[in-house]
Amino acid sequence: MPQCSSCRRYWHVGGPQCPTCGALSKEELQRRSEAASEEVTGRPSVEATDELESIRFSRRDFIIGAVAGGAAATVAVLLPVALIGDEDGEGSAGEEPPIEEGPAVVLTTFPRQRIASLADLRQGEPLDFDYPLQGQQSFVVKLGERALGGVGEDEDIVAFSYLCTHMGCPLVGLYKDEHKILGPCACHFTTFDLTKNGMVVLGQATQNLPQITLAVEGDDLYATGVMGLIYGFRDNLLDAQPVEAAS
Ligand code: FES
Repeated sequence: MPQCSSCRRYWHVGGPQCPTCGALSKEELQRRSEAASEEVTGRPSVEATDELESIRFSRRDFIIGAVAGGAAATVAVLLPVALIGDEDGEGSAGEEPPIEEGPAVVLTTFPRQRIASLADLRQGEPLDFDYPLQGQQSFVVKLGERALGGVGEDEDIVAFSYLCTHMGCPLVGLYKDEHKILGPCACHFTTFDLTKNGMVVLGQATQNLPQITLAVEGDDLYATGVMGLIYGFRDNLLDAQPVEAAS
């Protein structure tokens, strides 16, 4: 089985040329050399030698050449970019291009935000605030009866998102203190029980109303996190500016 003297591969079919790299077989090289020598003076001419040398140009040489050529081309492209200055053409080599500004703040954890003092709360009167991002409408309310997740001396202070978990209609102004519920939603009548983690008690929604976790320090009330995904957000911490956090 012939072996290519250039790329060292074996080839299975007959013929004067390697099917892999295109180099000529030893026999073919020899034949061409003899033919060239006979044509002139019985010795290989300069042209014939050059021809043979060019024929021996191997695939490996070609690849090395291609890599070197590619590197040179890359330098040729990048060098002018590095030398480009400012709009007035006064920049110098190595000067960093300006970096475009992205979002000012990206949250990775829930902020701790002061939302009210305990003295501000009146039973049955919700106080509104955004949390944890601007536009995530929420409220805190003192129910006057113990609730799951409630804080304060009577464990009756709770906070929730105002956005209905069915299709996001706002539930602002729909708190019913008599039954400790929020709703019915003006869109499709969903109603949430605020004493039971915002559980759905009526309507189309299938998810609890997201509950804001709270902490009390002295007379101050803090929002510290959210249980459940706020409607319209792929993540409670993405796609809007954070509210101002307080520690
Ligand atoms: S959006 Fe509230 S029930 Fe449909």
